[in-house]
Amino acid sequence: MEPTTLTSITSGIFEQREQKRHALFSHIWKELIPKVFEDVPQYYRPGNIVASLGLWELWVWQFVRTIELRPSYRALDVCAGTNDVGIRLLQKEPDMTVTAIDRSKEMQEEGQKRAAKYHVHIDSIIQDVHQLPFADNTFDVITLQAASRHLQLDRVLPEILRVLKPGGHFYHCDMLKPSNRIVEWFYLKFLRLSVGLTALVFGSTDASRECGEYFKDAIHHFYTPEELSEVFRLVGFSNVTCKKSIWGGMVGYHNSQKPL
Ligand SMILES: C[S@@+](CC[C@H](N)C(=O)[O-])C[C@H]1O[C@@H](n2cnc3c(N)ncnc32)[C@H](O)[C@@H]1O
Repeated sequence: MEPTTLTSITSGIFEQREQKRHALFSHIWKELIPKVFEDVPQYYRPGNIVASLGLWELWVWQFVRTIELRPSYRALDVCAGTNDVGIRLLQKEPDMTVTAIDRSKEMQEEGQKRAAKYHVHIDSIIQDVHQLPFADNTFDVITLQAASRHLQLDRVLPEILRVLKPGGHFYHCDMLKPSNRIVEWFYLKFLRLSVGLTALVFGSTDASRECGEYFKDAIHHFYTPEELSEVFRLVGFSNVTCKKSIWGGMVGYHNSQKPL
């Protein structure tokens, strides 16, 4: 992976951007998103495959491929949802332990069913991730996939850094704001259509249908891959690298470390 380029994100800009995201979306994060994740567990994976035109599985596979594991490792999957990441970590390294944290009981129930299906054990904690219920320096590896657009990063990232062991790795993957504005325009149009189509195909509830506009706006106000690298550095992570997917970083894979 190539080191990312420097951008103009300073601590002041990070603070302002987080305040703006909070002002725009906090009511959606608090009220609508929990309802959406009550509805989607049963069709979460096929829904993502439809919405991403089949690319979803490739994104998750590529993400887990970047993660280095050892038998003694203790891993935390933040916003673990259906345990897609945790299951793949244990398939890659069966002798490590994985804890999942997510505030959606319904997503984690589906995650536990899937873990049983694949004969792996994942501890589950149902809680909001803006405060992590773990001692400092607990985990060797922390993952966060497809959820940071719905979180206050100025609260969650310092918590992740706190519970990571010195030298431990934080792996992040999400749909990001493309650096190129033309790409962003097409991408957001596509996203709006694909979320609507998925809701139609899977007979989603009103809450999920209402989210189409939010999903588009959440990415517009989020970070480009380069900006997110800067954010991680500002919070205190070191050795930050980022691999961008096709189309100017629609999906970014970040790897960073807690300094020793
Ligand atoms: C798109 S899903 C991704 C899940 C997971 N990576 C997977 O593959 O199944 C986003 C998850 O983030 C969770 N989430 C969103 N905001 C949260 C919060 N504040 N605290 C805990 N979980 C949250 C949702 O409940 C949902 O399960």
